[in-house]
Amino acid sequence: MPISKKQSWHIEPPWGLLNDPNGLVWYKGNYYAFFQWNRFAKDHSSKAWGFATSPDLVHWQFRGSALLPDQLYDAQGVYSGSALEIDGRLCLYYTGNAKQQGRRISHQCLAISTDGRHFRKEGPLFAAPAGYTGHFRDPKVLAVLQGGYQMVVGAQRDNGLGAVVLYTSPDGFRWSYGGVVGTSREYQMIECPELFRLEDAPVLLYCPQHRDNAADTSLDSFSVGRVLDQGPDASRPLDLDTGWQRLDEGFDFYAPQTFRTPDGRRILFAWMSRLEGEAETAFGAGEPRIHCLTMPRELFRRGQRLCQRPVRELRELPGTPVPGETTESGRLYRPFRRAFRFTATELAAERNLDLTLHEGEWSFHYDAAAHTVTVERRCWTGPGQDTRTVPLSALSSLELWCDQSSAELFLNGGEQVFSARIWPASSQASLLIAGLPPESPVQLTLLPDDLYRYLPKEEETQ
Ligand code: FRU
Repeated sequence: MPISKKQSWHIEPPWGLLNDPNGLVWYKGNYYAFFQWNRFAKDHSSKAWGFATSPDLVHWQFRGSALLPDQLYDAQGVYSGSALEIDGRLCLYYTGNAKQQGRRISHQCLAISTDGRHFRKEGPLFAAPAGYTGHFRDPKVLAVLQGGYQMVVGAQRDNGLGAVVLYTSPDGFRWSYGGVVGTSREYQMIECPELFRLEDAPVLLYCPQHRDNAADTSLDSFSVGRVLDQGPDASRPLDLDTGWQRLDEGFDFYAPQTFRTPDGRRILFAWMSRLEGEAETAFGAGEPRIHCLTMPRELFRRGQRLCQRPVRELRELPGTPVPGETTESGRLYRPFRRAFRFTATELAAERNLDLTLHEGEWSFHYDAAAHTVTVERRCWTGPGQDTRTVPLSALSSLELWCDQSSAELFLNGGEQVFSARIWPASSQASLLIAGLPPESPVQLTLLPDDLYRYLPKEEETQ
């Protein structure tokens, strides 16, 4: 009997396929996490916006769909976008994707809600300007300190190469083209760009993508961020091929989006499952759904480096501690559920450290002499392991957050992050840690089992 991959505390739909987080916002007392949702199948054939809400970033309630592809201008997909509250109204900006005689036509569109439950489409705001192809999408809107609004859009220029484009607006409704923020010579498309200020510096996030332009298919893509010296300047477009850091070194992290909480923190969610082809089909087989969002993380910076740590609300969540036992191979924990958090602090920089999760479904190795960390997970499309190795000058702390079929690892307070879906092979959860200095504080805590609900409580019990 295969073991279910259903997550217990991550946002995922009850059925179908989830991809990018969209429209993250705090509105009238609730957090909103919209997301790309195919509610018909576990593939990318149809795209709507689904959503979940939360009063506290910890307890989430799935709410169904918000925007469906039911207009001529979005008939082939209500694609990714963002949200902003303007004068008490929740404004959702998204890309309407349409195809005419095989040609892709995109519009940046607006929908409005005044109650967070009903969404009224206002129609297209503008089409792709001259000089760009139909790959023109993912509007991310930002309120500017001096007044007015900015929007960045991911684009492909007529020469078949990627760019990020800026629009400006006095009121969030009337938009004017503001020039090019940056261009690429290496990538055929830039998806999901985002611009914001973080601790007083401008930051740009984006996803460079290689495409086969003749076949109009994606080849590979990943997610990066960079701290800029100054805000966007159309007279000096950025070179998007250099100067970035990867936001996550695990296997499954794409299309991140952030928003600002009322208390001023910048929170990030990403799509945790950028699986392709065979890996995606295999992972979803026998399940009603595929893919989830990452856990919410606070984005902050240490100088020019973008760092992420689990949101305070999750870190402060009380949980049941699970004692470990000392074995010949190291300290062993056997929690009775796979939803837990593990922390180890005051680690020794000069000592190797190993973590083995669920008897090898996922593992981590810190090599103190080589100054590297390696994360591995058992491959599910063939024999062997998927492996990533990155440099790390010294290891001082780690935090591992697990759910039924995922592991999110934060090193040195968030300096390096690894997110991965894992394939549950055993119903016995376990974590083995080897190389731990005897005096290092460690703790494994079970997470509560009522954090994510598909239906309101009353409906679930009827
Ligand atoms: C990124 C992306 C976006 C697009 C959406 C469609 O994963 O390709 O560029 O808006 O997914 O689902």
